[in-house]
Amino acid sequence: MWEIIETENLWKIYPDGTKALKGISVNVKRGEFVGIMGPSGSGKSTFLHIIGGLDRPTEGKVVVFGRDLSSMSEDELTQFRGGRIAYIFQFYYLLEDFNVLENLMIIAEMLGIEDAERKALEILDFLRLSHRLRHKPHQLSGGEQQRVAIGRALITEPDLILADEPTGNIDWEEGRKIFQLFRKLNEGKGITFVVATHNPDLAEFFHRIVHLKDGQLVPYNWDNPKRR
Ligand SMILES: Nc1ncnc2c1ncn2[C@@H]1O[C@H](COP(=O)(O)OP(=O)(O)OP(=O)(O)O)[C@@H](O)[C@H]1O
Ligand SMILES: [Mg+2]
Repeated sequence: MWEIIETENLWKIYPDGTKALKGISVNVKRGEFVGIMGPSGSGKSTFLHIIGGLDRPTEGKVVVFGRDLSSMSEDELTQFRGGRIAYIFQFYYLLEDFNVLENLMIIAEMLGIEDAERKALEILDFLRLSHRLRHKPHQLSGGEQQRVAIGRALITEPDLILADEPTGNIDWEEGRKIFQLFRKLNEGKGITFVVATHNPDLAEFFHRIVHLKDGQLVPYNWDNPKRR
């Protein structure tokens, strides 16, 4: 396994002076399923945004898939993200005027993915959404909406999925199902995952946990013996 994310001495100081990351160094290897955990405000989202090229660090090195993000222009970053990295957020950001199938197809067409409809239908079947293809987001449950958001990530055929509180808006049972699905994609398709959550009940799913507190790395205390 080789490193697909390498960071060194990452600092993020927002314009108002908030120090969100204070010199952290974290690497992620291909095929890992890594949790970013820590209390609210500890820097989880900031870290994900930086490794995903959505934001830049104030200081420090970020190399993703062997490319140094700090040397890229905004256009290069946009292009780089589109190809290999997908995001799943707490608030689903689905296109409300379009049905489930269209939500995937629009992304596929934007990226010029071949054989898009067959792939979209296959993904939606895998996500247990085949009976909801023509429904619009407001007609779906929270768990179903999050599965559509995952479908939108999968249609891009990513190597890396960055998920920020992906189960933050759904109940515990449905949240566990989403994590089981992530593990299946991780193990079956080899997609690397970096997932931020502050829910310790989900810790058992991760191969490894990067624990943040106040913008710094701290050891994670495994108090959950059920970890597999
Ligand atoms: N755009 C911004 N400008 C100023 N401060 C910010 C900005 N975004 C985040 N922060 C601050 O940076 C710190 C880290 O925020 P971040 O969103 O990364 O935390 P988090 O761990 O994701 O929290 P949560 O669990 O609530 O999502 C917090 O103190 C937050 O208030
Ligand atoms: Mg956050």
